[in-house]
Amino acid sequence: EKAGYDHFMLKEIHEQPRSIRDCMRGRIYPQEGMVQLGGIKEYAEKLRNADRIIIVACGTSWHAGLVGEYLIEEYARVPVGVEYASEFRYRNPIITERDIVIAISQSGETADTMAAVELAKERGATILGICNVVGSSIPRLTHGGVYTHAGPEIGVASTKAFTAQVTVLTQIALYVAQLRGTLPQSKLVELLTTLQDIPLLVEKALNCDEATRYIASEIKDATNAIFLGRGIGFPVALEGALKLKEISYIHAEGYPAAEMKHGPIALIDEEMPVVVIATQNSSYEKVISNIQEVKARKGRIIAIVTEGDTAVKGLADYVIEIPHADEAFLPLLATIPLQLLSYHTALLRGCNVDQPRNLAKSVTVE
Ligand code: M6R
Repeated sequence: EKAGYDHFMLKEIHEQPRSIRDCMRGRIYPQEGMVQLGGIKEYAEKLRNADRIIIVACGTSWHAGLVGEYLIEEYARVPVGVEYASEFRYRNPIITERDIVIAISQSGETADTMAAVELAKERGATILGICNVVGSSIPRLTHGGVYTHAGPEIGVASTKAFTAQVTVLTQIALYVAQLRGTLPQSKLVELLTTLQDIPLLVEKALNCDEATRYIASEIKDATNAIFLGRGIGFPVALEGALKLKEISYIHAEGYPAAEMKHGPIALIDEEMPVVVIATQNSSYEKVISNIQEVKARKGRIIAIVTEGDTAVKGLADYVIEIPHADEAFLPLLATIPLQLLSYHTALLRGCNVDQPRNLAKSVTVE
């Protein structure tokens, strides 16, 4: 059942080229610059006229929501708020009938996310779901939705469900952009063409198994780690930190790279691994100066870089290359080495990778 892999997590990491492809099947038409999402097309008018979109989720699904915020605001120009379901439900939130609430949940059974959906529904919002488990509770509560079709995810640490959620959110961002006319047709064609090829690039990103295993052997005795990213790379840093802490029990924090100097920089010394998302995109130069700040304090830099990069290579202690693609697709590619880095680190520390202590696959209590 593990298809020859030692753990479900490793199998699920390697399934991602396929699961991402499954998630796009019948939904994108690159040549026409068109996205079709059957499960939400009934709400096209609502999406066209929405004042804002509120995303509710927990854990890794919440990180996917942050990526969604970036993509929907960038391409569809609708304001997006991303909320921890557990905070949203107890806050007497302001919700109107012109709001769209998107609930993201792999299991479709997370208690807090369900309660947030019920609350928003009572208050008249249109509720859409992004879930993986077909027929689970959240899809039954929502008005419409888009399944991720990633297949069963057994490892407690979410991997292929995350990349599928991000794939769905990318499709929703481009669908709403198409409805609202916020992107030139040529840009839609270009982005959808790249999206269609993402499974091949993810396949390439998976080549870092050896490199991540070596870096894992170098950081396995650390007690703390920091993950830094900017823009769309920030939620990737959060996700990398969550993966590491949940399966290796190394305390890890994700931070927006520029926030480091407002506090966490005090933690940096030669013992501290600092994982930086340093790919060539709009924040590249800024990230390089953040790397220099870490280096000046003797932090050990592990950088995720674009294939062929030289500037970061000259500064970092370790680099992991990922293929080049438009910035919109950074989360789908940069998350892959972080998943593998956590996996190998946990393994070297003798941890139970698939079933970390104190955690359940779905959190059905509040
Ligand atoms: O099933 P859900 O997506 O609603 O679950 C949400 C979180 O419990 C989940 O993502 C959790 O954070 C994972 N163990 C992270 O790997």
